[in-house]
Amino acid sequence: MFKAYEIKPDIYWVGVIEWNERYIHGFTMPQGSTNNAFLIMDESITLIDTCTPGFEGELLERIADVVDPARINYIVSNHSEKDHAGSLAKVLAAAPQAKVVTSDPKGLAILKTYLGEEREFVPVRSGDTLSIGKRTLQFIHTPMVHWPDNMVTYSAVDKVLFSNDAFGQFLATSHRFDDEVDACALFANAKKYFANIIMPFARQTAKAVAAVRELDLELIAPAHGLIWRSSIERILDQYEQWCALEPQDSAVVAYSSMYGATERMAQAITEAFMAAGVAVRLFDIRQSDISDIMVEVMDAKYVAVGSSTHNNTVLPPTGEFLTYLKGLAPKGRTGIAFGSYGWAAAGPKEISSVMEGAGFTMALEPQTCDWNDDVAGNEALFKAVTDLVADNR
Ligand code: FEO
Repeated sequence: MFKAYEIKPDIYWVGVIEWNERYIHGFTMPQGSTNNAFLIMDESITLIDTCTPGFEGELLERIADVVDPARINYIVSNHSEKDHAGSLAKVLAAAPQAKVVTSDPKGLAILKTYLGEEREFVPVRSGDTLSIGKRTLQFIHTPMVHWPDNMVTYSAVDKVLFSNDAFGQFLATSHRFDDEVDACALFANAKKYFANIIMPFARQTAKAVAAVRELDLELIAPAHGLIWRSSIERILDQYEQWCALEPQDSAVVAYSSMYGATERMAQAITEAFMAAGVAVRLFDIRQSDISDIMVEVMDAKYVAVGSSTHNNTVLPPTGEFLTYLKGLAPKGRTGIAFGSYGWAAAGPKEISSVMEGAGFTMALEPQTCDWNDDVAGNEALFKAVTDLVADNR
């Protein structure tokens, strides 16, 4: 039932399509996900990456559409996160003679914890090669894109780069190539993936992109989503631009509100940015997907986060957002903390402290308003934000 699809002569896509998966470590995937694996039919049969545990039946069936999995000689594990290597033990049970190729030392250390010390590995350093017949595979370490163990695998004969997480998109689709879907939607998906997976490692990723630029490429085959065939230059250009994390003249206002006063503060801030000519997006965090908000944060020069004070802290949606923001926040942004309170403005102070710790420059004291709508206060808030923009121009 599960078939293999040839993407180049003797190279087959044998991945798994996670049509109904919607979530991975804080990132929502409204379009599902595809975990790509590739089978190279050469003198030594080689599988590039595996899949999430539970999907190995689909992977092995697609491989069996081409060859008995027991004949696989090498499994290249470009990255040991579970979505690519979590099924290795079960795949190895079906491919008992296969040697596992992994980055040395980080991939090796992680895979030994999955597979045991006695397993035969082929540890590779950056630049090492492996002859598998008419092809010689080259391994290039890409540490912290986005784990310490990441590497990519290049086949010069085919001009194919198996890039693992780099250049991926979370997308469940029956298509295999970039030019088979709408380009705007595809690049928006790739940007959301970058903002939520790659952004904290932009500096390391820029180095990886520079290394990829040196290669002669006809396909970039990531481990998630579609294979880049017609838009290789464009995705490399985009990655270079995204890695620069250059803030645009834009702002994000994200809040959660108990009875509406914090919401009206958020509106005052939003209107101030609009009046100052700054592009702005307003998000009620409870109604929004935090991984969508993060795409806007990636570009924004200003990030305003608000919450009513509740039980001497922030409301849970703002707490969740701050936790996520702390892990991903780009540097060099201006932060604003705000919120209403009853008898102690603990929420905005906590927001300010977390944002400062995450690297934001908090240009204003925490902005607060007590109990009821504070029309005069919101006018003052509007002015404070327009003044801040004017000072930053
Ligand atoms: Fe797609 Fe870092 O795993």
